[in-house]
Amino acid sequence: MRALVIVETPSGSMREVAEAIAEGLARGAEVQVQDVDEGPAELPADLDLLVVGGPTRAHGPRLADTGRDPLSHAGRGLREWLDGLGPVRAGVSAAAFDTRINSPKVPGSAARAARRRLARLDFEVVAPPESFFVTGREGPPAPGELERARSWGRGLATTVPPAHRTS
Ligand SMILES: Cc1cc2nc3c(=O)[nH]c(=O)nc-3n(C[C@H](O)[C@H](O)[C@H](O)COP(=O)(O)O)c2cc1C
Repeated sequence: MRALVIVETPSGSMREVAEAIAEGLARGAEVQVQDVDEGPAELPADLDLLVVGGPTRAHGPRLADTGRDPLSHAGRGLREWLDGLGPVRAGVSAAAFDTRINSPKVPGSAARAARRRLARLDFEVVAPPESFFVTGREGPPAPGELERARSWGRGLATTVPPAHRTS
């Protein structure tokens, strides 16, 4: 099985979480982690599983730069990368995760929005959106979250049809 993890990580916590997910996935897959800035314009032809992750900002995903919004970014985010992909081959599995503040007072999840986008693009969404918590507002990942991310990755590997797994 071949898996690709695409991550948007303004201050680095997402990258750590993405690497931990990849470690979990690596038990059953050949897996690569790429920053969204370096994400391919087209998915590899033999890709079985796409995992995307981005930070929650202002209750959702980050927005592209409008010149007005202080939370926006000038570069390419997950949204823009997904929107720029060509047609998706049938049967490619996908899942979304995010990092966010661990507080019931701060709602919202970038992963939920990404999951909707994946479904709209005809990916086979194989897991509910998952959130991993950061310490404070900007991280690092909260204690225990990297282990949880590894375990989520291990679980994801089992959702892909057995014929596609490498072990
Ligand atoms: C300006 C700003 C706004 C944020 N808004 C939210 C929010 O609405 N909800 C939430 O759960 N986390 C929010 N966070 C926390 C981020 O989700 C967290 O810093 C990020 O996921 C860490 O990932 P990174 O280190 O890869 O940037 C915010 C953080 C910043 C800096």
